[in-house]
Amino acid sequence: MKKIEAIIREEKLETVKKALEEKSYFGMTVSQVSGRGRQKGIPLQWEVGEYRVDLLPKLNIELVVLNEDVSTAVDAIVRNARTGEIGDGKIFVLPVESVVRVRTGDRDKNAI
Ligand SMILES: Nc1ncnc2c1ncn2[C@@H]1O[C@H](COP(=O)(O)OP(=O)(O)OP(=O)(O)O)[C@@H](O)[C@H]1O
Ligand SMILES: [Mg+2]
Repeated sequence: MKKIEAIIREEKLETVKKALEEKSYFGMTVSQVSGRGRQKGIPLQWEVGEYRVDLLPKLNIELVVLNEDVSTAVDAIVRNARTGEIGDGKIFVLPVESVVRVRTGDRDKNAI
């Protein structure tokens, strides 16, 4: 199992969610985060001088999937989160050791 952590633009949540749903990925956790990539935020020009907004608001979508589903899920996110402009986001894939469904005690493959 792997956890996909996708940092995306806030306005892309609905289309990404829909695309994942179409591929039958339903469970997810979404959090508001702030972050920066390699441009270190964005510079703003004010009358008083230059000011840098360092950490920009983004959404972090976390979903745990079977190893064989990683590339399908990642592709769906990439296709639907992309604008082509800088700041489109980033996806991390991490190993997951175990999953337990609290209600039933189901584990791993049966619990995702
Ligand atoms: N190396 C990193 N480690 C952790 N989080 C990151 C990393 N790079 C980017 N992020 C997160 O992803 C968000 C979006 O990053 P962003 O899309 O700007 O990446 P980038 O590498 O600068 O690519 P681009 O050149 O397209 O902007 C950041 O706001 C931050 O939350
Ligand atoms: Mg960037």
